[in-house]
Amino acid sequence: MHAPSAPRDSWATRAGFILAAVGSAVGLGNMWRFSYIASQGGGAAFVLTYLVLVAFVGIPLMTSEFVVGRLAQQSPVLAIKRMAGPRWAFLGWLFVICGLGILSYYSVIAGWTLRYAIDAVRNAIPADTGAYFGEVSAGPDALIAHLIFMAATIFIVARGVKGGVERANLIMMPLLFFILVALAVWAATLPNGGAGYGYYLRPDLRELLNPEIIADAAGQAFFSLSLGMGALMTYASYLRSKENLAREATTVALADFGVAFLAGLVVFPVIFNFGLNDQIAESAVGALFIALPAGFEQLGRLGDFVDSAFFVMLLFAALTSAISLLEVVVAAVVDGLGWARKKAALAAGAFIALLGVPSAFNTDILGAADQIVGNFLLIVGGLFIAILVGFPLRERAEAELAMGMRSEAARRAWIVFLRFVAPPILLGVIIFLAEPTWAAVLTLFGAGGG
Ligand code: TRP
Repeated sequence: MHAPSAPRDSWATRAGFILAAVGSAVGLGNMWRFSYIASQGGGAAFVLTYLVLVAFVGIPLMTSEFVVGRLAQQSPVLAIKRMAGPRWAFLGWLFVICGLGILSYYSVIAGWTLRYAIDAVRNAIPADTGAYFGEVSAGPDALIAHLIFMAATIFIVARGVKGGVERANLIMMPLLFFILVALAVWAATLPNGGAGYGYYLRPDLRELLNPEIIADAAGQAFFSLSLGMGALMTYASYLRSKENLAREATTVALADFGVAFLAGLVVFPVIFNFGLNDQIAESAVGALFIALPAGFEQLGRLGDFVDSAFFVMLLFAALTSAISLLEVVVAAVVDGLGWARKKAALAAGAFIALLGVPSAFNTDILGAADQIVGNFLLIVGGLFIAILVGFPLRERAEAELAMGMRSEAARRAWIVFLRFVAPPILLGVIIFLAEPTWAAVLTLFGAGGG
């Protein structure tokens, strides 16, 4: 069919794969969305709900994505159709749609981050951070930053798995961890930061079985763990080694949770230390882009340094995630159409950049896209992955997992979670999200001018 092409790219090392998967998971979602939702959703009670969902739904599903990816050695679009028949082909397409959709607005937020990082380093973030954010977040400035960020993402993905994706993660992820831990330690020394921990983690146990909180936690878990749209499946398709994929999934999920939790330990003490709590009542975005730099500002010279570190870290987190989103689309084009990687990266990236233009000019459109693609469709995708691996692919998937995981009881438990635990929970969440998602659809087409 296609001209014979070079052998398929793969990871150079096992650590490279894990780091890239953690790089995909750790992103903007960890840094602001987690701590914000936790503080609104019962504090420690939310964290507990979140952890239960990660353990019972997130890790089994991540294992499934890894297993199908390594089994297929191919882009999910082709692989699913080949393995499960044409009736399942829609799922691969859903993955590509999610990749395009999420990256289109994710890159806009990453663009704000880029602008903040540059201005922080140049020491040029104005004192009125609210007005600054308004200027930077929608309009020509936002568009330019979005385009630059997309160009960087395209550049890395075009260089391939080993030389682009793996190397970028190898450099950025350790730096990110280092900066984040340093920031958390520093935040703990703030004289009046204590109330921030309380606000973040006060255990409000009434929220424990609140369905709204469960739906929020599920949406957050999917987004944060990069689940439900084949991103980790695509990464695993470049794996050759026969490691225990359930263990790898657990490592990635715990690292992702650790970073999210740690980020909250930076954000809230800073905000409370400087008495900026009223600014976070409004929005999650406000907490990160308005209150935080305002707090850093009050620190004088030290603040100039700390805000640079913070936004550079955030930029790295966003970039390693964006890479994985673009990779899903690029892998589909390379494997499906036989295009060269560079051409595929450029074409897919340019299309996504264009798709993001409305989000760069209107934050309501951005929010609506996040609700539809970044929340609802990921859960839908996750439900189908659970059914696919739990039923039609069960035998092959179990055999693939068995290569690295000897315990038969553990594999059985995995299938039981996929068949009987994840689907009812996800179905419940889908029903719960239907109404806000419909409202977002109306916003998108209403605000788009019809
Ligand atoms: N997990 C990333 C974050 O928390 C975002 C992300 C990257 C993502 N790849 C994904 C979300 C795939 C869903 C699916 O910011």
